Amino acid sequence: MNTSLEFDLNSRKQKVSLFKTPPNSYKKEIPNIKHYAIKEIPLRVNRNRMNSSLQDLLLNRKSSVELEVRSRINFEGLSNILFYSYGFIDNHRKVVPSGGGMHSIRAYIFIFNVEELEPGLYYFNSFHNTLELLKLGDFRGNIEQAYYQKSYITECSFLIVHVGSFEEQYNKYGDKGYKLMQMDMGHISQNIYLTSTANEISCRALFGYYEDEMNCLLEISNKYESALLTHAFGIEKKDSFEMFGIDKNLVYKDRE
Ligand SMILES: Cc1cc2nc3c(=O)[nH]c(=O)nc-3n(C[C@H](O)[C@H](O)[C@H](O)COP(=O)(O)O)c2cc1C
Repeated sequence: MNTSLEFDLNSRKQKVSLFKTPPNSYKKEIPNIKHYAIKEIPLRVNRNRMNSSLQDLLLNRKSSVELEVRSRINFEGLSNILFYSYGFIDNHRKVVPSGGGMHSIRAYIFIFNVEELEPGLYYFNSFHNTLELLKLGDFRGNIEQAYYQKSYITECSFLIVHVGSFEEQYNKYGDKGYKLMQMDMGHISQNIYLTSTANEISCRALFGYYEDEMNCLLEISNKYESALLTHAFGIEKKDSFEMFGIDKNLVYKDRE
């Protein structure tokens, strides 16, 4: 068995601590860097040189904090997110890069509240640009059980589970294929964040789930396929400050 597969099978059982980072907790200080610089050259960021819509998306991208409970999302919004994260531009190229052009990650979608779609489990067929209905039903209860932070699942309107096929990667690249697939996942995730921002749909990447349980829910082979990451989508809950147009900074004077 490939060493990386053995590692993956073992790590699927490991419980991780909660991923959620409290707001304003970014490390602003310079990390403990081991090198000595000869000099430091400030960047000259020129926003005018940037395509303004891309700039807006990058600057507005953020993980959802709290979603309204299962708001109805329009089908075009969901379609756009899937197409611009996974779709084919032409016969040879997808919207995301992939190491060796393998594209061994696939999207499964749990629908809870999306216009025109019955609740259930779907598969995005990127070759036909279609959603394939696999199982009908509201599986929220079972899915919640698979997550550490259940509230995002309770609230979200739909959930994308990204499933990687290890077999395809190993056949071509051996253990290096494992690394490549995780990197591919990162590229897809950023596309997901940017396209959902562009469609005014809020999302949050979620890795805090029991991988074996998730694989069971999807009825995938488990050993050579596994859920690499998930994203929960919905409409961001407006807080009372925003609703009444109050500037939070006037209320919280000393925020550390
Ligand atoms: C690979 C990955 C896994 C994540 N898993 C979780 C998770 O399980 N739970 C969670 O609340 N947030 C999760 N997040 C969201 C991060 O906590 C979030 O991106 C981070 O706090 C920075 O916030 P921002 O995305 O708004 O800039 C994950 C993000 C990434 C990229």
